[in-house]
Amino acid sequence: MTKAAGVIALFVATAAHSVGAATFSVPTKTGSGGYAYTPLDPAPVGISFEFFAFPSYFTNVTATSQCLANWKALTGVWPPIRIGGTTQDRASYDAQTSAYVVYSVANAADAPSTLTFGSKFMTLAGTYPGSVVVGLNRGKNNIDNTIAAAKVAVSEVKNLLAIELGNEPEYWKNDKQPIASGTWNPSTDAASQNDWDIRVGNAVGKKAIIQAGNWNSAAPTWGAAQLIATENSTVKQYVRHYAHHNYPGGTIQSLMTHSTTASNVRTNFNADVAAVLKTGKEYVLGETNSVSGGGAAAVSPAFGAALWTMDYTLRATYTNISRTYFHHGTVGNCQYCFWGRYSMGAPYYGAYAAVALMAGASHLTALDSGTSNYAAYAVFDSKGAPMRVLLYNSDYFGGSGTRSTESFTLTGLTSATVKAKRLTAASAASRVDQGSSPTFGGQHFVDGTCEIAGTETYETVTVSGGQATFAVKATEVLLVYL
Ligand SMILES: *[C@@H]1O[C@H](CO)[C@@H](O)[C@H](O)[C@H]1NC(C)=O
Ligand SMILES: *[C@@H]1O[C@H](CO)[C@@H](O)[C@H](O)[C@H]1NC(C)=O
Ligand SMILES: *[C@@H]1O[C@H](CO)[C@@H](O)[C@H](O)[C@H]1NC(C)=O
Repeated sequence: MTKAAGVIALFVATAAHSVGAATFSVPTKTGSGGYAYTPLDPAPVGISFEFFAFPSYFTNVTATSQCLANWKALTGVWPPIRIGGTTQDRASYDAQTSAYVVYSVANAADAPSTLTFGSKFMTLAGTYPGSVVVGLNRGKNNIDNTIAAAKVAVSEVKNLLAIELGNEPEYWKNDKQPIASGTWNPSTDAASQNDWDIRVGNAVGKKAIIQAGNWNSAAPTWGAAQLIATENSTVKQYVRHYAHHNYPGGTIQSLMTHSTTASNVRTNFNADVAAVLKTGKEYVLGETNSVSGGGAAAVSPAFGAALWTMDYTLRATYTNISRTYFHHGTVGNCQYCFWGRYSMGAPYYGAYAAVALMAGASHLTALDSGTSNYAAYAVFDSKGAPMRVLLYNSDYFGGSGTRSTESFTLTGLTSATVKAKRLTAASAASRVDQGSSPTFGGQHFVDGTCEIAGTETYETVTVSGGQATFAVKATEVLLVYL
């Protein structure tokens, strides 16, 4: 969860690679054609669970394990998870309690203002077979308690990737967090992060264990570059990677528009990522989703937001953001959630398509320049050969009037035919909980269980002279298997 909504900036971009509006040349090998080729993490799409809600997702929401397993079935790797959010800085470790978490709320839709957690919380996180980032408290300024929790995390979470020390510290002055009671700005936060990184890392006896940063407010003020500039070699040894949060916001239409997404990622992250890559470390979106504060009812559960989820994941990954963790808040009060106890969320379908594109691939490129409504992404295998291309028509179709179609032409194809899966829904406003589910390759995910259902359907398209044309309707996606 986060408090401030991001700002969408419009930007004019450079160099178009496309020949026509939606004609794209598919490179025959990575490194060729003047494109940027971004190396892929084996599982670039992850899930973030709000700290207090994590035990509930893992013990009391049936769909959780299957929704994660569906991606593992595509990639061979369990998706990465992160446990954290605003409530990580309201949480204290209690070595005595046998409960996962202890808190009380006036209304089940609320997040607790204070809570405790036991070692069982970390034992539960340790049952997850994929990588886990655990977010611990810095706001309360009780480092002994945080070190005690970090020790349990290290001993119980066998796939522990990193520990966060504080979530979105730029808001702590307003939140009246004790650590921010004096002067609190990027420089004092950086000094605090550095000090805690060394003390916690040293206490648990691990180098490269800290996920540093974790701000939501924009770089460069609250960004990795300024933090890195304050780090000495001792601190650097403890930092595994850097994270930022992002909630672009907007209407369904602005959110799903490809040029807006490309601009949002470029404006917010290009420079900050470049600063981190120079250190040889990774950059991740540690917590993100469509609209801050659990999502917007009129936007976040809609198919248009699913298309944003897909496009944003791919554009972020292309920008050398290694992993993108989509936030899941209070069970039963979470507009942007991919799944809940009773219903699927449309955004799961967008994330699923992104996972399906990148599964098993070693490099990703964007074939388009990010300035139009039409996107094309290509992935390549470890030998450099193209594997799949995803075509996205972000023209808005809200359900009334005529739904237009864009012809995407791919050139440079080498086979006689290609097959494709379509990600579609009745309109950008379609919501699963309102009876209008998207489908991907003719299939859907069952409410409550996340089991895949329906007959898997591929379309076949003939290639002629190395070229094929694909009809993609407004607000629709085609994943082409080369
Ligand atoms: C991502 O980083 C790699 C180097 O690892 C670079 O070759 C590539 O061009 C970068 N991608 C983009 C989009 O800049
Ligand atoms: C599981 O969820 C149900 C429905 O909200 C709730 O009544 C129950 O207390 C929850 N159980 C646990 C163990 O969280
Ligand atoms: C490195 O920085 C930390 C905190 O920022 C400080 O405590 C430590 O003394 C510094 N180490 C060196 C060798 O300068």
